[in-house]
Amino acid sequence: MSMDIPPGGRISGFRLARLLGEWRRRGARQGSSDLAAAIRLLVLDGRLPAGTRLPAEREMADALPVSRTMITAALDQLRTEGLVSSRRGAGSWISLPSGSLGTIPDTPLVGTSMLDLARAAPPALPGLLDAYDAVRSRLPAELAEHGYYEHGLPALRAEVARRFEQRGLPTSPDQIVITSGAQHALALTLRLFTGPGDRVLVEQPSYPNALDAIKAVSAIPVPVGMTSTGWDLPGVAAALRQAAPRMAYLVVDFHNPTGHRLSAQGREELADIARRARTPLVVDETVVELDLDGDPLDGPPPMASFAEDLVVTTGSASKSHWGGLRIGWIRASTEVVHRLVSSRTALDLGSAVIDQMVLAELMSSPSYTLQPRRDLLAVQRDVLLAGLREHCPGWRFSRPAGGLSVWCELDAPVSTRIAVMAQNHGIRLAPGSRFGAHGGFERSLRLPYVLPVEVLREAARRLGVVAASVAGAGAAAEPMSVPVA
Ligand SMILES: Cc1ncc(COP(=O)(O)O)c(C=O)c1O
Repeated sequence: MSMDIPPGGRISGFRLARLLGEWRRRGARQGSSDLAAAIRLLVLDGRLPAGTRLPAEREMADALPVSRTMITAALDQLRTEGLVSSRRGAGSWISLPSGSLGTIPDTPLVGTSMLDLARAAPPALPGLLDAYDAVRSRLPAELAEHGYYEHGLPALRAEVARRFEQRGLPTSPDQIVITSGAQHALALTLRLFTGPGDRVLVEQPSYPNALDAIKAVSAIPVPVGMTSTGWDLPGVAAALRQAAPRMAYLVVDFHNPTGHRLSAQGREELADIARRARTPLVVDETVVELDLDGDPLDGPPPMASFAEDLVVTTGSASKSHWGGLRIGWIRASTEVVHRLVSSRTALDLGSAVIDQMVLAELMSSPSYTLQPRRDLLAVQRDVLLAGLREHCPGWRFSRPAGGLSVWCELDAPVSTRIAVMAQNHGIRLAPGSRFGAHGGFERSLRLPYVLPVEVLREAARRLGVVAASVAGAGAAAEPMSVPVA
């Protein structure tokens, strides 16, 4: 472990306590190894980058609901693992372990850049720049207006509604609210349907930022495990009966992270189950357009077709066009749209107009097609899977038919250990535990295929070295008993 003090930023005790979110709420009932595990997780998923200076123990003790002794013990444990370094007079900072978890001498880092396999987000669609140019000529008319569109730019609402119609779901622009991404859309629906202490049914595993959003409004995720082939609908029905959640958050198209898609028959059953329990379903369609083996128009009908009264659909241009646009939407009844927009104004007064114009421009263009993006992702997917078969032969996975990532089953409960080791090899990974409502998934790893093929080949090769090294080191990862913070 290097004792050079890195030039990282400093995190305050208050901010660390916020990052430790759910752990903090349960803190008093947990031990120092749970606190160490919660901090370790923040390091692994990149929220506490290497080099970050930690608050003094005294400041941590003021911010966290635990004793200073427990903090000292947790930091001691992290020091032993090499995740924290300290020097008298200079304090403590986050470091990356090398010797204590084993080094792999034959794999130097390529430059200083990390291969980011933690984010399943592709770069911008090539036509985006042209759309910005096209929109410029129409800007003067727009600039003469006030620029506030709480429901969204009318032209974009119409395009989003048209796309639902093309997918067989009659939709009027009045049923659409444009948001700043699907994450914002979920936050708005959570504000509408839940209050502190309410339950929200989620798939297990699920999209980590959605789990964080649920916890951030002090709601309680009620996880229902996925099966190896998809949804446990009897399990969903039982959870709706027993836990009486205020809403369910589901990703039925190319589920993140497993890649599963719910069949039309499954959707019908799910609609019946939700109707019996009168539970609103918030259905996230962020990657519905990324059908890699077929045409999105040939897929099962949108979930809202089966329960128009109960389903609120969220969607996004982030994965189809570009995450940097920060444009998403909600489709709901006009009554729910009205309530959503009324509550929205306490948070924001609409999304950026120019970005909405750009997306409307793209979607309305006669030559508009996402097929090249789908084709490229399909090639990247196949390259990654071939690389994994070659370099990580003990890992199991099924070929996702859409979406942006593959969910691997590892040969041992080593996901966290692999994520830690991979950093030494220039790969950033989100450990499986990030996808559980309360951690877990030490046997699972989500690997996105959004990077260029040559990078994916190299990533698979490096993952093979990491996997072999972890197996050689005995593979006994400490269980992550702590919820994701
Ligand atoms: C299922 C799911 N929902 C929501 C989001 C966030 O989307 P946005 O960038 O539109 O906020 C993502 C991004 O990875 C996602 O995979």
